[in-house]
Amino acid sequence: MELLEIHHLSKSFPGVKALDDVSLAVRSGEVHALCGENGAGKSTLMHILSGNLNPETGKIVFDGKELRLKGPLDAFRSGISIVHQHLSLTDTLSVAENIFANRQPVTRWGLIDFERLYRESSVLLERLQIDVDPKARVGALSAGQKQMIEIAKALAREPKLLILDEPTASVTDKEVTILFRIIRQLTTEGVSVIYISHRLNEIFEIADTITVLRDGVLQGTWPARDLTRDSLIRLMVGRNLQLQEFASHRGEEVLLEARNLSNGYIPALNLKLHKGEILGMAGLVGAGRTEIARLLFGADPPQQGELLLDQQPVEVTHPENAILNGIFYLPEDRKTQSLFPHLSIEETLFSARLTGKAMTGKVKRFRENAAAFVKKLRVATPDTAKKVAQLSGGNQQKVFLAKLLLGEPKVLIADEPTHGIDIGAKHDVYNLLRQLAAEGRGIILISSELPELLILCDRILVIRDKKIAGSLLRNEASEARILELAMGSN
Ligand SMILES: Nc1ncnc2c1ncn2[C@@H]1O[C@H](COP(=O)(O)OP(=O)(O)OP(=O)(O)O)[C@@H](O)[C@H]1O
Ligand SMILES: [Mg+2]
Repeated sequence: MELLEIHHLSKSFPGVKALDDVSLAVRSGEVHALCGENGAGKSTLMHILSGNLNPETGKIVFDGKELRLKGPLDAFRSGISIVHQHLSLTDTLSVAENIFANRQPVTRWGLIDFERLYRESSVLLERLQIDVDPKARVGALSAGQKQMIEIAKALAREPKLLILDEPTASVTDKEVTILFRIIRQLTTEGVSVIYISHRLNEIFEIADTITVLRDGVLQGTWPARDLTRDSLIRLMVGRNLQLQEFASHRGEEVLLEARNLSNGYIPALNLKLHKGEILGMAGLVGAGRTEIARLLFGADPPQQGELLLDQQPVEVTHPENAILNGIFYLPEDRKTQSLFPHLSIEETLFSARLTGKAMTGKVKRFRENAAAFVKKLRVATPDTAKKVAQLSGGNQQKVFLAKLLLGEPKVLIADEPTHGIDIGAKHDVYNLLRQLAAEGRGIILISSELPELLILCDRILVIRDKKIAGSLLRNEASEARILELAMGSN
């Protein structure tokens, strides 16, 4: 039986037709994946289903009735819950207050019934196996934990249709396993799930049905078992993908060295990054990879030990020192940490170099470079005057990466640089990282996608309990070996 039918839906924005006469149907109790490159129109479609956007033409039938949504609250009352691509939690409130935002249980005096709020939140968190105190402030949680709270919030509403737009962009394998178990449980109860992800292995693991969009146009709907990874990629991308052959650019010279570097989080870190090297960092969630990045970048500055750049000691007590020294960091949680959504693409790219060379007569070259990166990374936009906020999620990330690269880093610490980026753009990013290495820059690549580390890295450090549990050369590394070291069962 069909729970949701979408008929001939269209939606335009200035300069783009985000959805062009799209029709599809979602059955009760199925997991329906929506695939397509960055900017294909996936989130736009979901914004329409969740009452955040109005379509120009078309009709939606939900649960046997025509759906006319006046706003998000309307959608949620009809039984549609959405987990948006970007987090919508309030950092200053507690986990429980976020889960029950705007509809907290009240006492008979009309005050928030905190006891019930915490109790009901605990039950839900336990069901989702989320090990977080309902009283904890959301601002203090990791990106992965926040994402799981967001999912708890959507489920608290007991929806008939659950929409997950890139729910795993910042969660770990363990959290993905929990999420998939929840999804399977929900579907046996007849709940339908629309699942959006750029991780194709997830799609094939969880989806019953796959719909593909390309540039706002429906390519078709198929049972998942009728598609292969390659055929799906071809439908999404419409071109062949090519990755350059691996070639090591690792030089003899040490570019960055940490000697017993430590702060309150990381004890005695020792590592060497060579010129032209891509050094991977693998590890489970909470292993301390992001903390190491923050230590090297001066975000949580070192209290002891030494950091050497080009064999000279450097004081990195603040990100500003790091940047002035050419050490750049692309954070995991891009939305909250480094995006100014109200700026245009061009303004965002320019903010990369307010202090540096670009302002002293090299504006023209900088502008050309900026345009080149936008093109190279295939940022889907009519022009660079478009506001970053109006780009699709994946395209926002590409702008970020371009911004960092324009700063001409010596050392680039990239924390999950391809999260939320489509498969075509991933290839572009891989090629770009290799090009940076070929230019003699050093790259520290933090990634939860092991195939990505194995494709790109000269060497992989496995982090466990805030320490380096092992270092694997390219030819020694395998997924199994990395996991063994990461879990401590070697
Ligand atoms: N509010 C807006 N104003 C202007 N253009 C917009 C707006 N929202 C989306 N767009 C444009 O509509 C197109 C589709 O965007 P959408 O966010 O639906 O893509 P997506 O498939 O979700 O991509 P991603 O995988 O990157 O999240 C893009 O070209 C985007 O720039
Ligand atoms: Mg999107």
